[in-house]
Amino acid sequence: MVEEFSLKVQIQSEIKKRDICVLGGTGFVGRHLVNQLVKQGCRVRLLTRNRERYRDLLVWPGVEMVEANIHDAQVLHKYFEGCGAVINLAAILNEKRHGDFHIVHVDLPRKVIQACLAQGVKRLLHMSALNANVRGLSHYLRSKGEGEGLVHSSSTQGLQVISFRPSVIFGPDDHLFNRFAQILKLFPVVPVPCAAARFAPIFVGDVVHCFMVALQEHAAIGHRYDLCGPKSYTMQQLMEYTAQVLGLQRPVIGLGNVSSRLMASMMEFLPGKPLTRDNYLSMQTDSVCQGEFPAIFGTQRTALEAVVPVYLGHRDQRARYYDYRRMAGRD
Ligand SMILES: NC(=O)c1ccc[n+]([C@@H]2O[C@H](COP(=O)([O-])OP(=O)(O)OC[C@H]3O[C@@H](n4cnc5c(N)ncnc54)[C@H](OP(=O)(O)O)[C@@H]3O)[C@@H](O)[C@H]2O)c1
Repeated sequence: MVEEFSLKVQIQSEIKKRDICVLGGTGFVGRHLVNQLVKQGCRVRLLTRNRERYRDLLVWPGVEMVEANIHDAQVLHKYFEGCGAVINLAAILNEKRHGDFHIVHVDLPRKVIQACLAQGVKRLLHMSALNANVRGLSHYLRSKGEGEGLVHSSSTQGLQVISFRPSVIFGPDDHLFNRFAQILKLFPVVPVPCAAARFAPIFVGDVVHCFMVALQEHAAIGHRYDLCGPKSYTMQQLMEYTAQVLGLQRPVIGLGNVSSRLMASMMEFLPGKPLTRDNYLSMQTDSVCQGEFPAIFGTQRTALEAVVPVYLGHRDQRARYYDYRRMAGRD
């Protein structure tokens, strides 16, 4: 967990008096965030679709894990009762069925807002994504943009809203370097789609830090924060760096636009959809920030070179288990 790398903010006692309800808290970012919250003495109500699947979280002190259908408005009303803040991290990268993006990224935030307002929740932290925009190139970015817009329109009704728009996030159990490592170990030659697409990866510990600050800083209210790491890289550079960290000699072949699109059209039919045409469209816009890192969070950010070698070689059994599930399309 991220405390091995950084812990920069202390949660005020006022925040600890009421529960914090987290949606999507069982995922990569959620686990790091929930871990920090409970370490600092917060009580977390974690709603999940499948309690049994994440039973390792049951033993975390301060975490009340509830199996619930978060798409049911009544469920949200019930579990937001008594909460001081709600954090919504729930999202999908690919649709299983047409309409899923809208359900998770637009309908769910709408229900979350209504339940927050009805239950007197003071603050809502909403996770969006860099380049999320109703006019974005991909369905993912458009739906994320619509959800983010909805959330901020609720601030006129008194809800204290803050949203985060990160580039790709790295850290132990991430979906980026761990996946690259898997590919590099499996294939003798590695084709890289959208090889020239740029990213500014941000460390999960730094993202968690931003959430902690936003939970208590009044000045954060109403803001949409773009979050990027200190440097940007092309997709090809990230893959080559992963190979270097693992000590693997692999030809890494960058694909151009046409072959990337073709590859996505084929791979979206594989189990677990490793790459889809919608992902390809998302990567047509560089995932890099235009301005400075928001001053409210301080200036220190973690370079990926300081962290990735530490965790890449030490993937635990659980991470491998989830990799296999993803590959089998059971995620
Ligand atoms: N990871 C990144 O590089 C990155 C970059 C930019 C933005 N973000 C955003 O950061 C947030 C967290 O990302 P992450 O990487 O931690 O994601 P993740 O590991 O895939 O976890 C997402 C969580 O969302 C919940 N979820 C998934 N499908 C759902 C559905 N159909 N209905 C309801 N809940 C569902 C799951 O909770 P249960 O299974 O417990 O129900 C899961 O724990 C997301 O909003 C994502 O868009 C991530």
